[in-house]
Amino acid sequence: MAFPGTGKIWMNGTLVDWKDATIHVASHVVHYGSGVFEGARCYSTPKGSACFRLDAHMRRLEESAKIYRMTYPLDLVGWQNAVLDTIRANRMAACYIRPILYRGYETLGVNPLTCPVDAAIILWEWGAYLGQEALEQGVDVKVSSWSRMAPNTLPAMAKSSANYANSGLIKMEALADGYSEGIALDVFGNVSEGSGQNLFMVRNQVLYTPALASSILGGITRDSIMTLARDLGYTVTETSLPRESLYTADEVFFVGTAAEVTPIRSIDKITVGSGRRGPVTERIQRAFFDVINGQIPDRHGWLTYVHVDGDREPATRQATPANAR
Ligand SMILES: Cc1ncc(COP(=O)(O)O)c(C=O)c1O
Repeated sequence: MAFPGTGKIWMNGTLVDWKDATIHVASHVVHYGSGVFEGARCYSTPKGSACFRLDAHMRRLEESAKIYRMTYPLDLVGWQNAVLDTIRANRMAACYIRPILYRGYETLGVNPLTCPVDAAIILWEWGAYLGQEALEQGVDVKVSSWSRMAPNTLPAMAKSSANYANSGLIKMEALADGYSEGIALDVFGNVSEGSGQNLFMVRNQVLYTPALASSILGGITRDSIMTLARDLGYTVTETSLPRESLYTADEVFFVGTAAEVTPIRSIDKITVGSGRRGPVTERIQRAFFDVINGQIPDRHGWLTYVHVDGDREPATRQATPANAR
């Protein structure tokens, strides 16, 4: 879906019109992928707009920046307030939130340290990433011929722009082959993740998800789903998963800020379970949607309201410090 091209974008602390939020073509990030970013969501709830786990997302941004030796004069609360200010300025009830830190314009040697660290926060409306129907019917996916990055090459734990070159290859191959998405293995042949989603497998009522060491991004949705599944009484195990375990699973589903909780109905044309959303997936999906849509009490302090009691002041209550991993 194309951008409408209106509204305000936060750039280094200033709100600028969408059309003016530009950078120079000689900026370091354009050439070398030297950016780190986040993807979060703000949902419309009965008590007003609320960002889901904004603190965890902004903490991951800070950690991605730390790995890449980037510093920026905003602390965790400063980042959250910048996001909330931008949502308020755009008067959006629900949106996708994309903060990015990037190496800007100065020189074009490989060394990023000579270039400034600039930042932006972009918002737009983004519906179900793999389609509304996919949330119920599930998606058909393939195991990608592309692996995720090997350990100690590009750090998978950092949400870095550079990593998305790999994601793009996985996604393009899947689409070219007639699938909605690809599942990448790590370089050891174990299951890693989708191009932009983590993955869970259900077998005999137990949930399994690849561990951090399987070259995954430590997803905030993954962390939330582990918590919700445990709340519901399921055992959840983070472990290495062999490729073939996907084919014999009772249920498999993707999770992520964009994809939310999307069932997978076939992998490499092999039907997963009954070939439609399984009962565990459905239960977990409902628990997740109930939280993000504010339908049940926010037991874990995951929602940060954009407006407090209609006074249009910044939300001061921050959710419990969360560790996305
Ligand atoms: C490669 C990759 N893995 C997993 C995820 C899921 O992470 P999160 O739940 O924090 O959105 C994303 C999305 O950000 C991603 O791009």
